[in-house]
Amino acid sequence: MNHKSMQSINVGVVGCGYWGPKLIRNFYEIPGSNLRMVCDLRPDRLEHVHNLYGVPVTQSFDELLRSDVAAVAIATPVSTHYRLARAALEAGKDILIEKPLTDNAGQAQELVELAERNGRILMVGHTYEYNPAVEYLRNLIAQGDLGTVYYANAIRVNLGIFQQDINVVWDLAPHDISILIYILGATPITASARGRAYVQPGIQDVAYVTLDFPGGVMADIRVSWLDPCKIRRLTVVGSRKMVVYDDVEPTEKIKIYDKGVDGPRYSDTLEEFHLSYRFGNITTPAISNEEPLKIECQHFLECVRTRQRPRSDGRSGLRVVSILEAADHSLHNGGLREEVHYRC
Ligand SMILES: NC(=O)c1ccc[n+]([C@@H]2O[C@H](COP(=O)([O-])OP(=O)(O)OC[C@H]3O[C@@H](n4cnc5c(N)ncnc54)[C@H](O)[C@@H]3O)[C@@H](O)[C@H]2O)c1
Repeated sequence: MNHKSMQSINVGVVGCGYWGPKLIRNFYEIPGSNLRMVCDLRPDRLEHVHNLYGVPVTQSFDELLRSDVAAVAIATPVSTHYRLARAALEAGKDILIEKPLTDNAGQAQELVELAERNGRILMVGHTYEYNPAVEYLRNLIAQGDLGTVYYANAIRVNLGIFQQDINVVWDLAPHDISILIYILGATPITASARGRAYVQPGIQDVAYVTLDFPGGVMADIRVSWLDPCKIRRLTVVGSRKMVVYDDVEPTEKIKIYDKGVDGPRYSDTLEEFHLSYRFGNITTPAISNEEPLKIECQHFLECVRTRQRPRSDGRSGLRVVSILEAADHSLHNGGLREEVHYRC
């Protein structure tokens, strides 16, 4: 569709702390988006945004809901998601809500049902699903280039940003969980987690999560707000090849290692059984450096226009929350393996 004939969507954004301004910038810049209003409780943040974009601002969410915005993007703390999303859906708005959808599966399910009942778009900001490197990895796996996927390992650590309403699992693991579901095309059966709260009492800042997918595929996720280095790395090991996706790398985000280990097809004795290691080439494919959040916002606007179901719809948000809930139970239960109960 050319930009001139594209129906323009009136958008409002709630929350202009750390993440909200990135949404605001995209909805300000993207053709076919009409940024109409920004809401936050903090006047200083509103003044900053108003000075940058000249957009009307308000401290009242009700005022934003009464305005002519058709679509609302919510980038407020997780503990506020349910209340704000519910009010927006009841006011007839389509919504893009930041990850995780809510801080419990019961409320996530309510939002999914409310959106479906009211015919509203509910999209969750699983930004990595719109990342060209993740898309590349998904295609590699789907085409069988890695062979059978054995296991995956994700590391997402940094110094900060400490949250006060959720622990590090709820804050950082949604990214890796949504990536794993997207690239493996499967959902985990069980989750377990161990973690510790070192800085803020009762709020775990370091955690190790393990997910078991069907077919014996195991995935480990290490998340931390308490690490000297910023690492965002996912390794996927298959029977034919191995891949490392390093999101901190500016250009060479994906490296494909033609490495592996083969056993003899037949052997009758232990002496005959020798493993042979394969050390082949390492390839670094060219990957588009388009901003994932821009792709995500464009997809949201397209869904609002065409009424198609978003790629990261409410149900996928609910799936991620169900997994987080199981991991969180385990975290508070000595690391015991918990079955994930999906409500959709
Ligand atoms: N997709 C990503 O990669 C990504 C990255 C960072 C954060 N996030 C998500 O974005 C959301 C916000 O995170 P953040 O780090 O920007 O938080 P933040 O605390 O920096 O900002 C939140 C803002 O919301 C405002 N706010 C709080 N309650 C409000 C209310 N009732 N009405 C209006 N405004 C209100 C606060 O004043 C603040 O300015 C979270 O869900 C977080 O998980 C996503």
